[in-house]
Amino acid sequence: MCGIIGYIGNSDATRVLVDGLYRMEYRGYDSAGIALVTNDGIVLRKVAGQVRDLDHVVSTMTQRSCLGIAHTRWATHGVPNDHNAHPHMDCKGQFAVVHNGIVENYRTLKKFLEERGHTFSSETDSEVIPHLIEEFYTDDLLSAVIKACSYIEGTYGLAIITLRQPDCIVAARMGSPLVIGKGQNEYIVASDLAAIISHTDQVVYLRDGDIAEIAQDKLRIESRQMGTIAPEIQRVTWTLEQIEKSGYAHFMLKEINEQPLVMRDTIRGRLNYDEGIARLNGIADHVEQLRDADRIIIIACGTSWHAALIGEYMIESLAGIPVEVEYGSEFRYRKPVLTKGTVCIAVSQSGETADTLAALREAKRHGIPVLGICNVVGSTIARETDAGIYIHAGPEIGVASTKAFLAQIMTFALLSLLLGRLTHLSLDAGRNIIDAITRIPDQLSDLLQNLPETLIDIAKAFKDHRNFLYLGRGYNFPIALEGALKLKEISYIHAEGYPAAEMKHGPIALIDKNMPVVVIAIKDAIYNKVISNIEEIRTRSGIVIAIGSEGDESLQEFADYTIFVPKTLDHLYPLLTTLPLQLLAYYIADLKGLDVDRPRNLAKSVTVE
Ligand code: F6R
Repeated sequence: MCGIIGYIGNSDATRVLVDGLYRMEYRGYDSAGIALVTNDGIVLRKVAGQVRDLDHVVSTMTQRSCLGIAHTRWATHGVPNDHNAHPHMDCKGQFAVVHNGIVENYRTLKKFLEERGHTFSSETDSEVIPHLIEEFYTDDLLSAVIKACSYIEGTYGLAIITLRQPDCIVAARMGSPLVIGKGQNEYIVASDLAAIISHTDQVVYLRDGDIAEIAQDKLRIESRQMGTIAPEIQRVTWTLEQIEKSGYAHFMLKEINEQPLVMRDTIRGRLNYDEGIARLNGIADHVEQLRDADRIIIIACGTSWHAALIGEYMIESLAGIPVEVEYGSEFRYRKPVLTKGTVCIAVSQSGETADTLAALREAKRHGIPVLGICNVVGSTIARETDAGIYIHAGPEIGVASTKAFLAQIMTFALLSLLLGRLTHLSLDAGRNIIDAITRIPDQLSDLLQNLPETLIDIAKAFKDHRNFLYLGRGYNFPIALEGALKLKEISYIHAEGYPAAEMKHGPIALIDKNMPVVVIAIKDAIYNKVISNIEEIRTRSGIVIAIGSEGDESLQEFADYTIFVPKTLDHLYPLLTTLPLQLLAYYIADLKGLDVDRPRNLAKSVTVE
């Protein structure tokens, strides 16, 4: 959740570190700090607030350095203030540490350290780490960090500098991502590629249990399992342009607008029209296992969980394979029955979500094959699954997931087409789906041209309402959930998503003339049922904002506001109906003057439980 970065090289470390923090701010943004090795000792600056507040502070610093670490925080232990901001230091100010993760046994460690005379200056769990290193240091930072890590229970991505060895950074990983970028006579270690790719495309991903000693011209990695290992350098394909706003007011708006392009990237090279089938090379060796599975369990959290629900509907209806969808956080603690013949699929944009990762490890412990659907190449989930499909959405910086959601749905459309053709679907049906899939990018482009004006008007009319209801049925029920989640997370308006017919079992009590109800009412197999649900809302004076299919003029009779999406196949409608809901949430939050890309209390990539 936090962003950490370290730099060693010939450039001004302050600039490299602060610029890196700006690029990682979406991972946490309640406080920030920097520590530099200088001739005056370790210089430390920390502020509660955003990276720009830290930038302001460091702009007045006179000290220069080519070696340092920095941090942008998402608080877990201790309120966001200057003391609790990272980096943290030992008693004598000789070791500085930035930490992403949670030290679960910090109370025990703190007591042990206090008994040995250490004094603490923050309320954080992280502060035990520099004190442990101080306790164990004799003459080698790497050895002291290895020993300190052996005492820590929990998760960590760490970067550490010391005055005693002013020529290296030591970095360690257990459960929190860390990547090392190798430049010309310089290294950057960070929790996120976004902080690295303006410097180099050569990277080394650390694995859990790895501890790296990084000097200006040398990288050494000690693996807990394998001893000293040779760094495996990989090339990153994400570009700098992809992680910049490119003229948009917010990353979220940019990412919403990128969706036609993303759809093309997700399907590129994966459709075979002659055979009416999708080709997914990443899972080629596991396709029969999926086809013959007694049950597929899809594990995910948040928005990815909503995409998984759509995947469930698609796979069951196109391929007839039983599917269950589980929250990662529930699956890992509730003794699931995992029989032979079950295949798991973990879905995650970041590939680092702690609950999803723990759930997939649980499934693997039971000997169940686990496949992945991920966006971030080289992420932990991508690496720990037996095989997987990349969704190719490109870097998603806005905290509220948008383009990755669409790419996940499209990936499920491809997977269900593939499995459908291996089970029930005819060649013609397969080709029909391919035709519809290939129209999606242009249909989204048209919507992006036409929708904003209407949605801005609706946003203006409802931005001060305190509650919203979202209803949908079938494939569009998960879209109702996602629409509600988007609204609540960025506008802080309370919103609930429901299957439309469930409304009468409780939520209908909420409906009155002040309740806006967004209903997805496209012309699919259950259209008439949804119209009946709309009638029930209108009878109780509720306000209906309907998302319908192009050409369905009669919908206007039932709704106060209508937004139309182009026609497509029933199971592909979520790829179109999502867009107006994303834009509605965006415009409402923006009109309320909220920080759309950095909603309060949230962070991208939830690497803690
Ligand atoms: C909501 C959102 C979150 C994530 C969830 C899982 O907009 O972004 O709900 O979907 O934290 O994250 P990933 O997909 O990275 O596992």
